Amino acid sequence: MKKDLLKLLDLTREDMTKILNVGDQMKYNQKHGLTHNHLQGKTLAMIFEKNSTRTRVSFETGMYQLGGHAIFLSGKESQIGRGEPVEDTARVLSRYCDGIMIRTYSQEEVEKLGQYATIPVINGLTDFAHPCQVLADLMTVREHKAKLEGLKMCFIGDGNNMVNSLIVGGLKCGMDVSVACPEGYDPHPDVMAFTKTVTDCKFSLVRDPREAAAGADVVFTDVWASMGQEEETMKRRAAFQGYQVNGDLMALTNPGCMVQHCLPAHRGEEITAEVFEAHAQEIFDEAENRLHAQKAVMYLLMGGESI
Ligand code: CP
Ligand code: NVA
Repeated sequence: MKKDLLKLLDLTREDMTKILNVGDQMKYNQKHGLTHNHLQGKTLAMIFEKNSTRTRVSFETGMYQLGGHAIFLSGKESQIGRGEPVEDTARVLSRYCDGIMIRTYSQEEVEKLGQYATIPVINGLTDFAHPCQVLADLMTVREHKAKLEGLKMCFIGDGNNMVNSLIVGGLKCGMDVSVACPEGYDPHPDVMAFTKTVTDCKFSLVRDPREAAAGADVVFTDVWASMGQEEETMKRRAAFQGYQVNGDLMALTNPGCMVQHCLPAHRGEEITAEVFEAHAQEIFDEAENRLHAQKAVMYLLMGGESI
């Protein structure tokens, strides 16, 4: 039984399928006005050491819809910003709350929070992983394509938190995954090591975006400079020339190929405005599904049922 959601490497395919199934149910219930206040009286502490729109609003709204309450803790304004050790924050919040969501830089900090907290800890993005986003992404692809197994996912761009989680989530759910990154911007070594253990799906890391996109059923991309990398913006802009999701690249994909972007998007950099707008329905479905997938995670972790 797992207490936390720290990274997708910790989950099995069955765990992920269960979250997606409960996510679909949460979405159905919300759309049909069916009561689902499974977390009545429960509180989620949300620690943010980086900016957010979607993660903050979807977690807070999700807790409200489940009958619970969410508390926003800014990294800067809480004692965390003054250096209180994560081990102590974990034990204090465990005395008041029923769950912790954290967005920060280091994955090690989140792992330590999980180790010291007696309540569930959910990773709302680190430099290493974005598990909640990728659960929403998989939910969206499954919703549009009615399956995940056997589909080809492609990612174009930076070997960052998003692709680290997409590779693990995609392969664990039976998708073939093809990634195109410039040299020096590869996915994390732990994720590359995981790809070597997969036998039932294909994985490739290539330099040519056209090779990665050929025959894809869903194309993912993300910003060239993530939060915390703002100083590298100019250097990265040069390194990622040619790693853009545009009309020429989309022409190589399968008919009906989806485009997904975790947002925020930089039009004219990793994706053209034309491709973005042509796939806006899918991209905003993806954003919406953050709410439903996270409600599933909170229900399964904080509602007494294990993932
Ligand atoms: N995709 C995502 O995590 O968005 P925010 O940074 O707005 O939370
Ligand atoms: N890779 C991006 C994702 C934002 C949701 C970042 O870390 O800034």
